[in-house]
Amino acid sequence: MIDLDNRINREGFSMNNSGNLEFDRCEIIKLAQKYKTPCYVFSETIIRKKCRQYVNAFSGRNVTFEMLYAGKAFLVKAMCNILKEEGFSLDVSSGGELYTALSAGFPPDKIFFHGNNKSKAEIEFALKEKIGTMMVDSEYELDLIDQIAESLNTKVGIILRVAPGIDTHTHKYIQTGQVDSKFGISIDRAPDFMKKVLSKEHISYNGLHFHLGSQIFVLSSYVLAIKEMVKLMRKIKDLWGIDTTNFNLGGGLGVKYLESDLPPSIEDFVNLIADNVENEIRKNNLIMPKILIEPGRSIVAEAGITLYTIGNIKEIPGIRKYLIVDGGMTDNPRPILYEAKYEAVLVNKINNNLPEEVVTIAGKCCESGDILIKDLKLPSASPGDLLVVFTTGAYHYSMSSNYNLLPRPAVVLVNQGKDDLIVKRETYADIVRNDTVPEWFK
Ligand SMILES: Cc1ncc(COP(=O)(O)O)c(C=O)c1O
Repeated sequence: MIDLDNRINREGFSMNNSGNLEFDRCEIIKLAQKYKTPCYVFSETIIRKKCRQYVNAFSGRNVTFEMLYAGKAFLVKAMCNILKEEGFSLDVSSGGELYTALSAGFPPDKIFFHGNNKSKAEIEFALKEKIGTMMVDSEYELDLIDQIAESLNTKVGIILRVAPGIDTHTHKYIQTGQVDSKFGISIDRAPDFMKKVLSKEHISYNGLHFHLGSQIFVLSSYVLAIKEMVKLMRKIKDLWGIDTTNFNLGGGLGVKYLESDLPPSIEDFVNLIADNVENEIRKNNLIMPKILIEPGRSIVAEAGITLYTIGNIKEIPGIRKYLIVDGGMTDNPRPILYEAKYEAVLVNKINNNLPEEVVTIAGKCCESGDILIKDLKLPSASPGDLLVVFTTGAYHYSMSSNYNLLPRPAVVLVNQGKDDLIVKRETYADIVRNDTVPEWFK
């Protein structure tokens, strides 16, 4: 094995004896030849490793816990199989995610249904399938769930999503726990809201939830949120005599996109949560609830990469050189949404020691903002070169679109030298599959 330089010294990457870059022991150039580009590649080894890091970190603590995975980050049937085998529960946030999980045979009792405007049809679907827990986001939804449960002659366990009024140090579009948020019940209204919950015949109160946001590096926001949420548990106990038996702290742990990113480790995150929940519960003289968390990004982000082929190269002397790839904001909307930053290398020029130049990686969509990476140092590129972008496992495939009617890329799973397709590349026929023409044109 050849040593990796800093740009590719990331989890899952290695260089084989022929000097070719591998991901989870699969040669990346061969993957691109076999599956074409653009293409998402996921390492099963890394996904499982992250799952186990969470479970092991909690197992080292004297607490009861349940690990959920937030399906919104990336959910396909193969992912559901991995989660099932790793003993995870699942947070879904739409009928589509629920359908995917059930199609993969995911146990319904281990599913938690999130969302800030679940439709009647989605709630009926979930209750008929006997999913484990409905996460309640509002008063409107509480009434709706109760009515539907009554019509189905069933009783459903709920967890209340509370907005704890805490700001996080992350992009404002991925903050969710602040006062001015479209998600959850404001913390000051929650004690009264409980009266309504307890009055519902077809609902049983199973606990509280908060989610602060995503890509969080500064963990002190969790400390503040835990304090406020445990105070709320105390109020609920004082007002209604009820113990809160499940405490779900959402997801949010940040990951490494850039070499310079230094997110807290999974172990530090879990220890901080366990320490603070234990302390606050003790201080407030309450019974210790089960701790649940629902990470998405920190399980799959670094397990995913995207392969692109360089096509057109446009140089504006003295201004900028654009390398244009065969994908863009359709397979990665995060730069245009959040100004997210990435790093990448040219796989076929990885160890040529060629002089480097500063370039901009642009997508092929009809938007000037469709820029994947600004000011990246790469060896001189030519059309046909293969680019790998790191850390594209979370909120990429799940946020992809068909803008410009581009077919969505294939998704490939790799594991210690094995590779297989987990989502086929869309075809032009897929693009027009639901497209219909009114009778009067026929
Ligand atoms: C309610 C909820 N839980 C969990 C998550 C997962 O967060 P992350 O992917 O940052 O771990 C999200 C994502 O925003 C969320 O909205």
